[in-house]
Amino acid sequence: MSTSRIIQLARLIASGTQTLDEHLIQNDLPPPSFAVEAPTEPFPQATWDVARTRTEVIEATIELRQLLEGPVKLLLPESNFAPLASIYRFNIAHHVPVDGSILFSHLAEKCGLLEHDLKRIIRFTSVHHRVFAEPEEGLVAHTAASRLLVDNDMIRDLMGLTFAECWPAHARTPDAIALRSSEPNISGYSLANNTHLNMFEYLEQNPDRARRFAGAMASTSQTSLDALAEYFEWSALPPGATVVDVGGAQGHVSLHLAKCFPTLTFMVQDIAEVIEGGQESLPKEMKDRVRLEAHDMFTPQPSRDVEVYLLRYVLHDWSDEYCVRVIENIVEGMKKGAKIVLQEHVLAERGTLGMVQEMQMR
Ligand SMILES: C[S@@+](CC[C@H](N)C(=O)[O-])C[C@H]1O[C@@H](n2cnc3c(N)ncnc32)[C@H](O)[C@@H]1O
Repeated sequence: MSTSRIIQLARLIASGTQTLDEHLIQNDLPPPSFAVEAPTEPFPQATWDVARTRTEVIEATIELRQLLEGPVKLLLPESNFAPLASIYRFNIAHHVPVDGSILFSHLAEKCGLLEHDLKRIIRFTSVHHRVFAEPEEGLVAHTAASRLLVDNDMIRDLMGLTFAECWPAHARTPDAIALRSSEPNISGYSLANNTHLNMFEYLEQNPDRARRFAGAMASTSQTSLDALAEYFEWSALPPGATVVDVGGAQGHVSLHLAKCFPTLTFMVQDIAEVIEGGQESLPKEMKDRVRLEAHDMFTPQPSRDVEVYLLRYVLHDWSDEYCVRVIENIVEGMKKGAKIVLQEHVLAERGTLGMVQEMQMR
């Protein structure tokens, strides 16, 4: 009997998929689908075992596909994101009815695009990404993925961050690397935006983009918020203790902690353009306990009589030299016994994580 790698992978996929299907049946859940009504999370209520099986199946399918396609394809993967970037840029999802469909010609008119451009965009994204479908020749309808752009502002912001901020920056990153600098304003991002400012200084000058950035940050995973709540003894802090959430965007992390630990109060600090409008949009019951203020973390920390400074996913944006400056500005004014809490991505040793995790980390 053949024991080639492709057969091993196919067997793993078959047995893992069986486990996943049983999970769906046992929990009376629908099978995964691309249809407009399909749930956003295909495997809700997944136990740790089910989640691990899902990852193993995904890893096996990636490897199997790579083996079947061969090495040339590894050098030349699909790399044209212009159609997805256009879906975001021209707000196409908002002009497609959620129930039913629309003619290409009508949709083109609503989006202000040439019909032939729109057709190319949608026919590309429907086949490559399952974003929109053409149920009948000439008609456009939503899929589960395209519908998310209508229903979920956070996903929309995340898509904007990906295609309007990251994607152009990635394209210029080799040029920035050639300049051999670790200054934050010498980057793919700065080159792509034709600026000598670093990304955050640039966002300060572009309030709409800063707001979108803050919106995208709120898409953080529930697991990472739960880990933050669990791995530090917040409940051991004295009642009424203040936590300063440095670089806290519009306070989504502080809000989570505030709900979990009702005796704590929070001061969320970020650049002015990011926090703008944030205080007003906090839930009413949280307004007394969570406050937002503009503060540049590269200047001395104004809040001194506090118990904790939280830096969550902040330092990873900066080179070591700049991280030291951020920390020094906090340490200078810390009272005795105060703590700095970091939540960060840690780059594990190569080969110690599963393939999907390693891919995300790298
Ligand atoms: C990757 S986000 C993390 C946001 C949030 N802490 C979280 O965990 O989701 C980094 C944050 O640092 C903020 N930031 C960047 N430069 C800053 C500065 N000079 N002063 C204060 N905040 C800054 C950004 O605006 C952004 O909200």
